[in-house]
Amino acid sequence: MGCSRFALLYGVAFIFLGLHPGYGDVSYSIPEEMKRGSVIGNIAKDLGLDLGRLSARKARIDTEDNVVKYCGVNLNTGDLIVQERIDREGLCAKKASCVLKQELVLENPLELHRINIRVQDINDNSPQFKEESLHFEIRESADKGERFQLDEAHDGDIGENAVQSYTLQENDHFKLNVKTKGGDRKYGELVLDKELDREGKKEIMFVLTAFDGGSPQRSGTVVIHVTVLDANDNVPVFSQAVYEASLPENSPQDTLVIRVSATDADEGINGEVTYGFDHVSDENQVFSLDPKTGEVKVARYIDYEKESSYEMQISAKDGLGLASYATLLIEITDINDNAPVIYLKSLTNPIPENVSPGAEVGIINVQDRDSETNGQVRCSIQQNVPFKLVPSIKNYYSLVTTGQLDRELVSDYNITITATDEGSPPLSSSKTVQLSVADINDNAPVFEEQSYSAYVTENNKPGSTLCSVTAQDPDWRQNGTVIYSLLPGEVNGAPVSSYLSVNGDTGVIHAVRTFDYEQFRSFKVHVMARDNGSPPLSSNVTVSVFISDVNDNSPQILYPAPEGNSFMTELVPKAAHGGSLVSKVIAVDADSGQNAWLSYHIVKSTDPGLFTIGLHSGEIRTQRDISESDSMKQNLVVSVKDNGQPSLSATCSMYLLISDNLAEVPELKDISYDEKNSKLTSYLIIALVSVSTFFLTFIIIILGVRFCNRRKPRLLFDGAVAIPSAYLPPNYADVDGTGTLRSAYNYDAYLTTGSRTSDFKFVSSFNDNTLPADQTLRKSPSDFAEVFGDCDSSPEVGPCIISS
Ligand SMILES: *[C@@H]1O[C@H](CO)[C@@H](O)[C@H](O)[C@H]1NC(C)=O
Ligand SMILES: *[C@@H]1O[C@H](CO)[C@@H](O)[C@H](O)[C@H]1NC(C)=O
Ligand SMILES: *[C@@H]1O[C@H](CO)[C@@H](O)[C@H](O)[C@H]1NC(C)=O
Repeated sequence: MGCSRFALLYGVAFIFLGLHPGYGDVSYSIPEEMKRGSVIGNIAKDLGLDLGRLSARKARIDTEDNVVKYCGVNLNTGDLIVQERIDREGLCAKKASCVLKQELVLENPLELHRINIRVQDINDNSPQFKEESLHFEIRESADKGERFQLDEAHDGDIGENAVQSYTLQENDHFKLNVKTKGGDRKYGELVLDKELDREGKKEIMFVLTAFDGGSPQRSGTVVIHVTVLDANDNVPVFSQAVYEASLPENSPQDTLVIRVSATDADEGINGEVTYGFDHVSDENQVFSLDPKTGEVKVARYIDYEKESSYEMQISAKDGLGLASYATLLIEITDINDNAPVIYLKSLTNPIPENVSPGAEVGIINVQDRDSETNGQVRCSIQQNVPFKLVPSIKNYYSLVTTGQLDRELVSDYNITITATDEGSPPLSSSKTVQLSVADINDNAPVFEEQSYSAYVTENNKPGSTLCSVTAQDPDWRQNGTVIYSLLPGEVNGAPVSSYLSVNGDTGVIHAVRTFDYEQFRSFKVHVMARDNGSPPLSSNVTVSVFISDVNDNSPQILYPAPEGNSFMTELVPKAAHGGSLVSKVIAVDADSGQNAWLSYHIVKSTDPGLFTIGLHSGEIRTQRDISESDSMKQNLVVSVKDNGQPSLSATCSMYLLISDNLAEVPELKDISYDEKNSKLTSYLIIALVSVSTFFLTFIIIILGVRFCNRRKPRLLFDGAVAIPSAYLPPNYADVDGTGTLRSAYNYDAYLTTGSRTSDFKFVSSFNDNTLPADQTLRKSPSDFAEVFGDCDSSPEVGPCIISS
């Protein structure tokens, strides 16, 4: 290949030689870059020089200024040969014609020939770019069709051998547009054919090739390096369209709820994402959103009961304000932070004690603001009350009674209701309901005792306090206010109210009149206690009044007849032996017990040794045999005393005639006391005179009465039983032989024309079984006062003895 090429070059050189033969001056045309030694032309021949003389004439090639000897002369052949490399580009650069001027110098004679060597260009240079690579920074926002000028490539060669064309490596975005400047210089432009996308491809590299027109063609390349600059053409993109988070309520501040993130494909400030809430409302002040990190944190107290979920729009913005949006959903989960609250919706207060078991007393409502199990509430009530809670419709409970109420036992209830929720840990609260029980008049007054006894000594003052009764009624106020009253009844045919009265308020029983033991010894009344309810309830009690005896009656001598009535004379046979019963003094005492226990004494006698009297029998007996010397007329004064304290007594006189024949009896009036016998004589005389005077007066009165009441039969003894001839009243309380009192004795009716105002007009048959004589006798009023001291402080009040 190289051979043929040289042959061609030679051919060209010869053509030049042929075209420009010159005398004096020669011109040659040679391609550049001929090998050293190559023959440019035969100068000797061309100049007609003598070949043999060349060396002698010291033919040589000179240059005017060049130091470099490009050519030389072969003195043997006369050939002009290449001595140094001839580079057209080095000699002439871009000049269109490049002539290398040489001179042939000959001496002897000096001869000078100009040699013009026209150096022809060969394509020995490739197009070349200034740099190895071209850098472009192009905004991705550049429009299609935008142009970017490229550096041109340089080629040392000229003409056709210079840069003729460019080609661009195939790529997605750019095309090449080749343009020509003045001087036929060609350069290229990059034309944006398809928009750039930094995010798609940030760096683009492709090769630009410049071609010259030589043959063979040469080329040069440059790498075009396009950096796509960012344009804020990307909005930030959230990683999720909806962020969901769940958070327990009451979470402390700064608790991290969730982190949102958005990415922006842009760079620098265009890719800097700032987070924020889309718009500010109350809701999102509860949370904070860190603009840089996207952390959502708790900013304020979160209450599930106020808001159970939050929905917010959040935005992500880049530096130039492109934004996108996402939804943030935060579900709040419930914490058991609310205790149940108990509301008393209604209450019947007070409740009457007679409500039937199961009656509804109140309605209770329980509320818990928490939800689910945290809001499930159980209600309970303390155990020891007769109430219970009955669940009603949702969260409502009825408070009902479980048993019979009794105000008198429990009048107030503090009912504690406890409500507990089912959270974990559970919360509870309690409420105390005060309930009072209203009274119903369900209790009758009850006397403290089953019966009462009152003891009073006779001859009491009217109005004196006997006793008091008390009844209790546990009911309230007027239902428990007790009023006492006597139940109507009769005592001995007279209304009880004429005997006793009871203080309605205090229950103190007073005597209305004076009681006389000898009239009656006891009686019973019924006292009623009634409350003030409506209707009232009542109960009654028996009060037995026992009248105790006072020694207020003197013994009453029945035989011999009281003095002044008549002188009765007993006959004593002269032959009577000692111990013979001569007569008997009969006396009674209206009192009872000791007060009626009589004793007989002879206080005066004609002959003190002759007669004796039984201390308790009143029997007069002879003490010794009667003798002739004894006075015929004997006179005894007998005193009868009771055993009361102080004792009362009565005296009587008895006349005894010691005689066997009544005819011997001297006149009664001759019977007189023996002057020497007793100092009593003078008293007796006074007594006899006064008795006689009294007797006469009595006779006159009797006659007067008789005259006035002629039709009325005069009864000396007008009782049920007349005194028998023996002068002993039947059932007379006598003293038996042993000298002890009989435990039971009776008074029967005696009527007498009595000489005393206190003579009995009436004695009811009284069987004293209820008052044993020994008991009455043993106890004095002061004894009773000791035992029953607090019954009544009044000395007049008889003791209250509970006979039950
Ligand atoms: C009920 O509670 C009140 C006040 O706390 C108290 O005064 C009262 O004695 C209580 N009643 C009962 C029956 O416990
Ligand atoms: C007394 O009882 C009656 C019913 O028997 C009742 O209506 C009344 O309220 C009660 N009085 C008082 C003061 O509690
Ligand atoms: C007194 O009470 C008794 C029972 O306590 C009763 O049998 C009687 O009838 C009552 N008498 C009067 C007069 O109320």
